Amino acid sequence: EKDGYDTFMEKEINDQPKAVEDTLLGRTDASGRLILDELRIDAEELKGIAKIIVLACGTAAYAGMVAKYAIEHWTRIPVEVELAHEFRYRDPIIDENTLIVSVSQSGETMDTLMAVRYAKEQGARTLAICNTNGSTIPRESDAVLYTHAGPEIAVASTKAFLAQITAAYLLGLYLAQLRGQMFTGEIQDILADLHKIPGKIQQILDNADQIKDLARAMADSPSVLFLGRHVGYPVAMEGALKLKELAYIHAEGFAAGELKHGPIALIEDGQPVFVVVPSPRGRDSLHGKVVSNIQEVRARGANAITVAEEGDDSVTEFSSTVFFVPETQPLLMPLLATVPLQIFACALASEKGYDVDQPRNLAKSVTVE
Ligand code: F6R
Repeated sequence: EKDGYDTFMEKEINDQPKAVEDTLLGRTDASGRLILDELRIDAEELKGIAKIIVLACGTAAYAGMVAKYAIEHWTRIPVEVELAHEFRYRDPIIDENTLIVSVSQSGETMDTLMAVRYAKEQGARTLAICNTNGSTIPRESDAVLYTHAGPEIAVASTKAFLAQITAAYLLGLYLAQLRGQMFTGEIQDILADLHKIPGKIQQILDNADQIKDLARAMADSPSVLFLGRHVGYPVAMEGALKLKELAYIHAEGFAAGELKHGPIALIEDGQPVFVVVPSPRGRDSLHGKVVSNIQEVRARGANAITVAEEGDDSVTEFSSTVFFVPETQPLLMPLLATVPLQIFACALASEKGYDVDQPRNLAKSVTVE
């Protein structure tokens, strides 16, 4: 059942090309238009949506953050992302033109379920992005978009995360198509790039040794920081969460732009800092800003470990190690940049002799509030 891998987590990391591919499968018609029939929500109703609120916990909430960048950019519908357990208790503003998008691997997370129920009571439409057929959250939602990652056994989420992000992209593109917000050709170009992602993930998996070697060398690190901007920000948070969960190392993910507003005080000699570097081809000179962030932490003695796009040689001189990932559209980058961070956390925890499938104090599905 582990397909020859030592742990479910390694197997599931290696299942990711298929998880993304299967989540994309069968969601376009012969002419390349997206069809999400299974949504069970009226197209007219979806056209009238004025606001989206994504609700989730943990890793699923980071998928939700990625969704926000993509859906807002493609549809121009305002998107909020909130931890489900915070949402319910703050008297949120929701009505029948609000679409609640819950994201949950298990479909049984009590915090998320209670938030969805609450939103329904307030009259919102609810859509579940979920990996578990027939589980409670999709059953109680108006609509469902299943991720097809297959069963996820390891407690720490990996392939479900990439599948959630993939599903969120499909939802964003579908809404853009419905509302005439993007040209068909534009949508098809993005879909074509999405279809190339599984092969690119495979390339990263095929080069995992470099990451595993670094993880072994860093097994004694007391603390590791992760920086990212734009969609690289949730990737940084996810990298930190994986390291906390699996290797019990203090880790924090920050928005790189936030550094000088406080976190830079943490940097001292030898502090390892992972930096998710945006594509140099991206918009708004984000790449240059992140390169300056790398220089700032380096100047204070940090070891910068960068995840950068293949061919981006500008970061090499500032990095103690660079993991190159294949190029893709800037918004799709999390599907690639996350993978080295998962491999890193898994390898480091294994090096320390920890049970990566069953980390201490955690349960796969949190069915209490
Ligand atoms: C982290 C992890 C958790 C879950 C969270 C939500 O690796 O697995 O943070 O993502 O508990 O679980 P689901 O997606 O089942 O609602």
